[in-house]
Amino acid sequence: MIYEKHLFICTHERPNSYKKSCGESVGLALVGEFKLQIKNAKLPIKIRAQKAGCLDLCDNGPMVVVYPEGVFYKNVQLADVEKIVTNHLINGNIVEELQCIR
Ligand code: FES
Repeated sequence: MIYEKHLFICTHERPNSYKKSCGESVGLALVGEFKLQIKNAKLPIKIRAQKAGCLDLCDNGPMVVVYPEGVFYKNVQLADVEKIVTNHLINGNIVEELQCIR
């Protein structure tokens, strides 16, 4: 299946490391919440949300990237999922306050 949009949600974990990891905060819960809200939105395009390994922006995590736009979202919390789904996925507007710009 070809998806028109694809979300990669970092769930990487580094047990016993000093370095921050998205999977040890809310990474896994975010995957479930994105899947649920995308399903409930009944959008006319095919969108997939899935777990991803480290996106190499660990200090900004939890990290999510949306393709094909290549927009990275930083410090994404469960309360932000609705904002990203409604503004970005449904209405096509980047959620600028969460955007991670290198
Ligand atoms: S652990 Fe999530 S970006 Fe590195």
